[in-house]
Amino acid sequence: MKKILPVLASALLLCACGGQRQELVRTNFEAAAAQLRLAIRTADSLAAARPDSVVAAQGDYPRLFPRSIRPDGSLFTVSSRDWTSGFFPGSLWYMYEYTGEAYWREQAERFTELLHREPFNTDTHDVGFMVNDSYGHGYRLTGNPAYREAVVQAARSLATRFDPRVGCIRSWNARRGWQYPVIIDNMMNLELLLDAARFTGDSTFVRIACSHADRTLQNHFRPDFSSYHVIDYDPADGGVLHRNTHQGYADASSWARGQAWGLYGYAFMYRKTGERRYLEAAERIAERIRTFPTMPADGIPYWDFDAPNIPDEPRDVSAAAVLASALYDLASLTGERGNAHKAWADRILENLTASYRAPRGTHHGFLLLHSVGNLPSGSEVDTPLNYADYYFLEALLRKQACERADK
Ligand code: GLY
Repeated sequence: MKKILPVLASALLLCACGGQRQELVRTNFEAAAAQLRLAIRTADSLAAARPDSVVAAQGDYPRLFPRSIRPDGSLFTVSSRDWTSGFFPGSLWYMYEYTGEAYWREQAERFTELLHREPFNTDTHDVGFMVNDSYGHGYRLTGNPAYREAVVQAARSLATRFDPRVGCIRSWNARRGWQYPVIIDNMMNLELLLDAARFTGDSTFVRIACSHADRTLQNHFRPDFSSYHVIDYDPADGGVLHRNTHQGYADASSWARGQAWGLYGYAFMYRKTGERRYLEAAERIAERIRTFPTMPADGIPYWDFDAPNIPDEPRDVSAAAVLASALYDLASLTGERGNAHKAWADRILENLTASYRAPRGTHHGFLLLHSVGNLPSGSEVDTPLNYADYYFLEALLRKQACERADK
């Protein structure tokens, strides 16, 4: 009996922990349902209230996607052209994935289809974010072949931005005199290429994705595996012209969301290609992020790990949400070693839930407060952001998947 009691006690403890873990996911999705219904109603009333002059000015690009909140408290919405346009539909797809309810599928389809021009957009690398987070999930969850075609078309568009002399996809066109700027964020767009390769059997997409990831590993990362934001390449020979930042504190600093984009990118590159160099990169990046002396105890980073006035600097909840989601991915790929990544991600989610969530029925339907878009240009500082919400929901789903796989 003496031996059985501790076993029983630890089994009960395990059940209780399992219950608590499910509770975190369930309560967050319940709160998200209320918030996102509010966001949908707001977008609908904006559409209904558009005067003819606005309709004419916006043409085929109505600004119906909630992106953030302006300093005066009003809702900032964007058209499908904006780099963040896929995240709101993506959040609706995650609601459908969690609940299985027709309502969320209908809303996700409606907002996804508002993006129908973007698969043909060759003006930006962000077509990966825009199309994979909307049509990509739509195809994964419904099998609709039109959605798969949208992903493949977007991959073709993205591939037009690849130059073999540089070995990378160009991120932006003209900006600040850079000749061929590639930003660490661009790692995120590679997932679309790998999915398109799987759908079509066209290995060109894989070659482009691996070339970009390898060049980024060579040139964006410092010896300690922190990363620069922008590398400007010489389009003639692929040499590095400049190492800069656009959204971070300084060229040599570590912009928090950029570190998280890098981790997320190399984790899925390993998951989708099986190439161990990407796993090694992801592990090194995670270790660098974990050991920044300025990482706060609650795991929600300041907007830049080297920002000059820490602790009197804004946190960036979006960086925390991307980081948590990437850590669950890494945890699912690394067996026993992954337990530490999962525990870290759990702590981030618990703290986001406890201290950074918007109260229900407020903030135009956003889920999380206190993100930073672009501090150096004074834009979207300490505000909700649609991508913080998207990666938060993704992290909750990944947490659930990790825990189911453990059973
Ligand atoms: N890709 C832009 C950003 O992370 O703000």
